[in-house]
Amino acid sequence: MAITKEQVLKALRNVEDPDLKKDLVTLGMIEDVAIEGNKISFTVVLTTPACPLKELIRNNCEKAIEDDFGSEVEVNIRMTSNVTSIRNDAPLLPDVKNIIAIASGKGGVGKSTVTANLAVALARSGAKVGVIDADIFGPSIPVMFNVEHEQPHMVQENGKNMIIPIEQYGIKLMSIGLLTPAEHAIVWRGPMAGSALRQFLGDTKWGELDYLLIDLPPGTSDIHLTLVQTVPVTGAVIVTTPQKVAIADAAKGLAMFRQPQINVPVLGVVENMAYFTPEELPDNKYYIFGREGGVKLAEKNGVPFLGEIPLVQSIRESGDSGYPAVLKDDVTAEAFKVLAETLARQIAIRNASAQQTKVVEVN
Ligand SMILES: Nc1ncnc2c1ncn2[C@@H]1O[C@H](COP(=O)(O)OP(=O)(O)OP(=O)(O)O)[C@@H](O)[C@H]1O
Ligand SMILES: [Mg+2]
Repeated sequence: MAITKEQVLKALRNVEDPDLKKDLVTLGMIEDVAIEGNKISFTVVLTTPACPLKELIRNNCEKAIEDDFGSEVEVNIRMTSNVTSIRNDAPLLPDVKNIIAIASGKGGVGKSTVTANLAVALARSGAKVGVIDADIFGPSIPVMFNVEHEQPHMVQENGKNMIIPIEQYGIKLMSIGLLTPAEHAIVWRGPMAGSALRQFLGDTKWGELDYLLIDLPPGTSDIHLTLVQTVPVTGAVIVTTPQKVAIADAAKGLAMFRQPQINVPVLGVVENMAYFTPEELPDNKYYIFGREGGVKLAEKNGVPFLGEIPLVQSIRESGDSGYPAVLKDDVTAEAFKVLAETLARQIAIRNASAQQTKVVEVN
């Protein structure tokens, strides 16, 4: 008896996406089912190219087919991805599938470093990525991407001037540091900073993006409010060091996103500078800022802990030389890669909840 498409789909209904807790057929993740004699082929469309569960899902599909049709059938599975979004109906930037705010509370804990490395790791997985440097008074993204001497071009579109973002390492970038020399940015007034961010969101040609990361300034400033008032934000990532004072500030940062008026989901906490490791003694870990502050912050607030990044001299050097650490394929690169995968997973879980983030109204 010839195998039918329905029988193949029935078999695949036994495979669950471990994160979304539904079967792949119900989730619409199975496409192009084809049967030729004893050869079965289909495509699994993952929710992110950075999916760490790719091989597990593939194996489970193979097993489900074998369970139903025996080992004589030949299975050919193509794995692709289509990043999910809750922003398709957004009035501004509907082609940007996910807008992710990277925030901290305390300054200097590594928001910009984490943003740069997450961006590169996501892009290397195959995602389309952009970064907005929302730190108008202290932009660091141009240096971290080695583009501080580049200037974006402008184009006219429907009588409006649009900025074309700079591209580096396959990532689209926009920062005030690309428009004005750094020493000028300092004297900007608050409202001007807000309008700069609105321009980066509204008057910049981002095109289609899977992830647009927003590197926020420290604290809970007007810029944070401008962001959530201008676009629906998919979620926020809180960066902290394990140190007590950093945790206290991070808790405030986290609480800001969760205020009922703002209501941006917190995707998780990243613990940066979790421990110091000398490069020549990679097995030695020194917990100079204390231990597990980030894990506890996440637990206390009932949000995921996304991962820890050690304090390593090469991470600082990579930032200063404009070549993000994750490009180097060493141990620290691996830490950022895993972090990017964990974040991409949390974004997919958040999107599956189908709850929209609303733009914050000013009263
Ligand atoms: N894991 C790390 N290991 C080594 N150095 C790091 C690490 N993370 C960040 N740094 C360094 O610490 C300094 C502060 O990092 P970064 O600029 O990313 O922090 P920030 O939170 O964006 O700061 P700000 O609040 O000023 O925007 C930089 O010099 C950076 O290179
Ligand atoms: Mg910064």
